[in-house]
Amino acid sequence: MTAKELRQKYLDFFESKGHAIIPSAPLVPENDPTVLFTTAGMHPLVPFLMGEKHPLGTRLVNVQKCVRTPDIDDVGDNRHLTFFEMMGNWSLGDYFKREAIEWSFEFITSEKWLGLDPRRLYVTVFEGDDDAPLDQESINIWQEQFKKVGIEAKVAEDKIVDFEKRIVPLGKDDNWWGPAGETGPCGPDSEMFYDVSPENGAVEGKFEELNGPRLVEIWNDVFMEYNKKADGTFEKLAQQNVDTGMGLERTLVTLTGKDNVFETDIFQPIIRKIEEISGQDYKDENNQKAMRIIADHFRTATFMIADGVQPSNVERGYILRRLIRRAVRQGKILGIEKDFAGAVAAVVIDEYGESYPELAKNKDKIFEELELEETRFKQTLEKGLKKIKDVIAESRKTEKILGSEAFMQFSTYGFPLELTREIAKEHGIGVDEEGFHEEFKKHQELSRTASGGMFKGGLADAGEKSAQLHTATHLLLAALRKVLGEHVFQKGSNITAERLRFDFSHDKKMTPEEIQQVEKLVNVAISKDIPVKCEEMTLEEAQKEGAMGVFGEKYGDKVKVYSILDLSREICGGPHATQTGELGKFRIAKEEASSAGVRRIKAVLE
Ligand code: ALA
Repeated sequence: MTAKELRQKYLDFFESKGHAIIPSAPLVPENDPTVLFTTAGMHPLVPFLMGEKHPLGTRLVNVQKCVRTPDIDDVGDNRHLTFFEMMGNWSLGDYFKREAIEWSFEFITSEKWLGLDPRRLYVTVFEGDDDAPLDQESINIWQEQFKKVGIEAKVAEDKIVDFEKRIVPLGKDDNWWGPAGETGPCGPDSEMFYDVSPENGAVEGKFEELNGPRLVEIWNDVFMEYNKKADGTFEKLAQQNVDTGMGLERTLVTLTGKDNVFETDIFQPIIRKIEEISGQDYKDENNQKAMRIIADHFRTATFMIADGVQPSNVERGYILRRLIRRAVRQGKILGIEKDFAGAVAAVVIDEYGESYPELAKNKDKIFEELELEETRFKQTLEKGLKKIKDVIAESRKTEKILGSEAFMQFSTYGFPLELTREIAKEHGIGVDEEGFHEEFKKHQELSRTASGGMFKGGLADAGEKSAQLHTATHLLLAALRKVLGEHVFQKGSNITAERLRFDFSHDKKMTPEEIQQVEKLVNVAISKDIPVKCEEMTLEEAQKEGAMGVFGEKYGDKVKVYSILDLSREICGGPHATQTGELGKFRIAKEEASSAGVRRIKAVLE
């Protein structure tokens, strides 16, 4: 089976169970300030898991592109990846545990679908604690499924599994999923594992030791019926949801019997290209780590740039920069002299183009950004590598590179801290990271580079503010069109807990008077405390009513239209404030060029 066939099977199966197929959301979450990247399929669906109505109904399925970056430095072994695809199905207050488990079992074991051997399937369930009880219901449903194929599945005691005891109750660390940020929807889950080496005799032993090498997790059914609040307690949600996630790469490895993901049709063409460029052989174990890092990092970088991320020293841009620079250095280790990021990206675009049209659409931008960043880094890479050798020699006594030296590598040679750390580690020494950060702060750089959890309060707390900023964005667009003219259209929007950022078509710098006028129009609309109205309609009707929108393609043909009297009417997923009066005072903090013919405004609500 190929990746493409697997994707299609998953979508077909759940479509046959009444699910609507929704497209993958972008990697950069729209209007969700709690995380840098989309890390799971449920992520873009949080408002709907919390009770908002989804235009396509209560059963959804998709394949979602995801990025998880805490383990960047582990990429290079045979299993860590920074980008992956998650196949998932959702019930928004529709079916619950019974259907979710029955369908999981059917999809995995039926000859018509994946046709995996039920005797090699093991599952875990939530064992219960003060917040929620043992998931006896899931145990019962699993037992019924196994029984249908003649297997008596017993519950493992003390987390010891064997061929008969294949249902394992585990605690919150293992069998509780979410929230994605600090707060939000979550619940107990049931995970499915496949025995990948039955030739080694019957499974027997501690689950935690078998998990990974022998029992590979392929799917997770989350029963999302709780909301985690900011004070750490859990409350029942108004509706019982199901959120599932099946890792495409891992499942493909399992199905094809390959050793690891780099040997599947997902990575093979990319690896072939790296072999061709470097003149080296992947089969030579000395080359594998470098080739895997290059393949993984450029694949992720290609997808990130297509979704609008640009290399920089903060937040998402910093992660992207790290990926590109780490890959470029690995290229050097393989002896690659010429620029090669673009050539690798071209294979990624080719391979994924059909499933993700945004790649081909943004091809030029992808090549341009990669080339720029590769050139930038290569200009100082040689010197930086030479310098770090000296630094390492000098640091032998303390076994640590000084913070000021690590900062020098960063500011003068463009080495992300993590790269200095990696090279230091290769020489058996560490880095004074605290010292680095002190130095960093002294130089007034932003250091918010964590890969998740950007705001302590999480989505629920940040949610209200972001809904207000969202509404402010609509008022801003309407005001800009009044003051500057009808040529103004939205070119991009991004909301954090603190500010909105809005890109729009206009080819001149705004004058101070124009900025004042726009602020005034927005503030007048706020002072009138107008209700924000939401209606559902077909895309056609929305267009007929003159609604503006850039998200038209996202929800198929049923869309939501938010209007604020006749001031503003936009197709939009929400969420929004209920009344404009909630917004407070609107202020434009910055107006600047974004790209040719596009201006950018950053604004706050005070
Ligand atoms: N959201 C769940 C996961 O990522 C399905 O595992």
